[in-house]
Amino acid sequence: MSKVQNAVIASVKTALSWVPAQWLPGGTPDPLIERRVAIGRQDSRLDGPVKASGQARFAAEVEPEGLCFAALLHGTITRGRISRLDTAKAEAAPGVILVLTHRNMPRLGTPPLISTTDLSAVGNSSVPIMQDAELRYNGQVVAAVLAETQEQADHAASLIEIAYEADKAKTRFEDAKPEANTPASILIEKNHVSVGDAEGELARSPHRVDNVYRTPGQNHNPIELHACTVAWKDGTLIVHDATQMIASSAKALAKLFGLKKEQVRVHSPYVGGGFGAKGMWDHQIIAVAAAKLAGRPVRLMLSREGVYRIVGGRSPTEQRVAIGADAEGRFTALIHTGYSIMPPYGACPEQFSLSSRAAYRAGSFEIVQRHLNLDIVPNTFMRAPGEAVGTFAIECAVDELAHEMDIDPIELRRRNDPERHPIHGTAFSQRALMQAYAEGARRFGWERRKARPGASRQSEWQIGMGCASGSFPYVRIPGATISLRLRRDGLVTIACSAQEMGMGTATVQIQHAADRLGLRTEAISFELGDSALPAGPIAGGSSQTVSIAAAITAAADKLAGELLRLAGNDSPLAGLRAKEVQLIDGGIAGIEDPSRHEGYASILARAARDEVAVTATASAPLEMLKFAMHSSSAIFCELRVSDVTGEIRIDRLLGSFDCGTILNPKTAASQFRGGMIMGLGLALTEETLFDERSGRIMNPTLSDYHIPAHLDVPDIEVIWTGIPDPRSPLGARGIGEIGITGVAAAVANAVFNATGKRVRDLPITLDKLL
Ligand code: MOS
Repeated sequence: MSKVQNAVIASVKTALSWVPAQWLPGGTPDPLIERRVAIGRQDSRLDGPVKASGQARFAAEVEPEGLCFAALLHGTITRGRISRLDTAKAEAAPGVILVLTHRNMPRLGTPPLISTTDLSAVGNSSVPIMQDAELRYNGQVVAAVLAETQEQADHAASLIEIAYEADKAKTRFEDAKPEANTPASILIEKNHVSVGDAEGELARSPHRVDNVYRTPGQNHNPIELHACTVAWKDGTLIVHDATQMIASSAKALAKLFGLKKEQVRVHSPYVGGGFGAKGMWDHQIIAVAAAKLAGRPVRLMLSREGVYRIVGGRSPTEQRVAIGADAEGRFTALIHTGYSIMPPYGACPEQFSLSSRAAYRAGSFEIVQRHLNLDIVPNTFMRAPGEAVGTFAIECAVDELAHEMDIDPIELRRRNDPERHPIHGTAFSQRALMQAYAEGARRFGWERRKARPGASRQSEWQIGMGCASGSFPYVRIPGATISLRLRRDGLVTIACSAQEMGMGTATVQIQHAADRLGLRTEAISFELGDSALPAGPIAGGSSQTVSIAAAITAAADKLAGELLRLAGNDSPLAGLRAKEVQLIDGGIAGIEDPSRHEGYASILARAARDEVAVTATASAPLEMLKFAMHSSSAIFCELRVSDVTGEIRIDRLLGSFDCGTILNPKTAASQFRGGMIMGLGLALTEETLFDERSGRIMNPTLSDYHIPAHLDVPDIEVIWTGIPDPRSPLGARGIGEIGITGVAAAVANAVFNATGKRVRDLPITLDKLL
């Protein structure tokens, strides 16, 4: 993340702006945008029956022979060192096989940190893992115990005697501000954006809002705890993991343990929720080291508390948003600055300031975020990193300005909706946010909203409506590779190391492949979840679907070439080149003259081949740099606030999404809904209570950290424009993370509409409303 990176990306962007679009990926719209059969159908998830019947094996359910169990001991100071360590009682406890501490842990490095310049890097932290007696954050692993049963391991871990010598630690957000650092870039964007004189414009504007918004830290709580079952077998390492990054995890483990690529095999066929948390943390590395020392397979499942201690979450933020507007409500200045935490040993910035770059046009901009260095478990990406909390600040500010100016908040957004990317000037690939607003407003009954806050009431309940925009950038991961095998009986197998975290990866890619190859979905199977397969993309950044789709497209093109070669001169296709044919109706046909058609079976039979196999890598995702590409949404909320207790009841939530082609309405609606429910947690209940005196997380349990339960979740309606993006594979953009964005602001804006109280720090708990 450096100035060099900024310069490289800027020159690539400039070069691409001169290249005609049709030369680039996405330059010519994907033909399947027009020709869809299986795509867009409500197919049920293929992984549904195995999960519903309990047959799906997750990482902590694999039982190799001789399996033993690990428990971790977490440090209780924030900074300092172990001064005394006695493992004798633990070693003597029943069933104990091994006690691992910094004294006997093999000397290992740390995996390379997640970065935009090395997409195979998986590390979330560069803090050494039990390599010395030092502690850098509260909760760090200080010992691991292996035993015959989980209970024996847990018990023995409690018998380890340990004392610490504590140093003064950096644990206060406020105290760290004077030494905040300003990184040169945030992901692939230049961090500091300054267009015109925003402060001056703000001061001169007839209308303005200028406020500070705060969002707390949040922790990851996927249903499936982080877990791995690992075994060494004849010098080969087998890891059953719950991970969003199979291929790169295998690569990182090989490097760490000095193995060849083919000596490591990572299996992760099912992941019980990831949301950014299921990357590589200390536990996989400890389990692999312990299994090696013990000569036994090891299962290591973090406790719920363990996840809070060593798996980072979302950083707290403090954001200033100021907007100046002229008499008509056109923005003259947009300022978005602030702080989040990112210790130097962490990898993931909480990129909140990216959300204000493409959302509105304005006469001037001042955008920059600063990182605070605290002694804390390094945060990681958490569903819609940056955007989830960035949209809270900016979308509340827009609502505040609308109220100041007595303009409907949707109308104010319409007046400032950009035609091109407001900072880069690049064209949007497709953007119909205002259409999403119009349809959402109609469906929601927005016209029933009373503009004056506190104007609607039923007995003790004050009723309000609010709306807000959500956004998430389009990402396609470079280098996704798949293999495709077509057999003479017409069956196709597609394979890559993709991840299935519950979103329907195989289901949707089979729908895609069916249309791409002109076959029925029943003819296609999709293998995933195994690092021995061609290296698929990570599942992150809402990017997996289009990343795999582009690889399947590349494979289909290659397949067409192979088949034409095999078809030879006796085929109706003779003389046609790969660019002149399409895969359709179970075979190949000329594009100009579709009557020139030959079925796959016939081509293979004549060539005396049982099958044809190709492996292909997706085109470079240059569309991301050539165009401004974002999923966007309009979120609507209606709620009640009790003026007796201050409690908030959400009555209705509607999301109107503009995310390109919706490939499968059933799986998509489920993802949108899940994201919106997470947004309710962000708005109302979720908060990591970090004790700034001790540097310790004080609520590392689901009874103290509140995520929405069924009774907190109202009717959620989900609609979409469904307008294909002409620049992306299948016309699709990401849908995994957009759902959470905009929700917190829609809730806060509805609370204001109900009560006249503006809460600028999340979560909006009842004490803030009394
Ligand atoms: Mo997402 S936070 O990239 O799983």
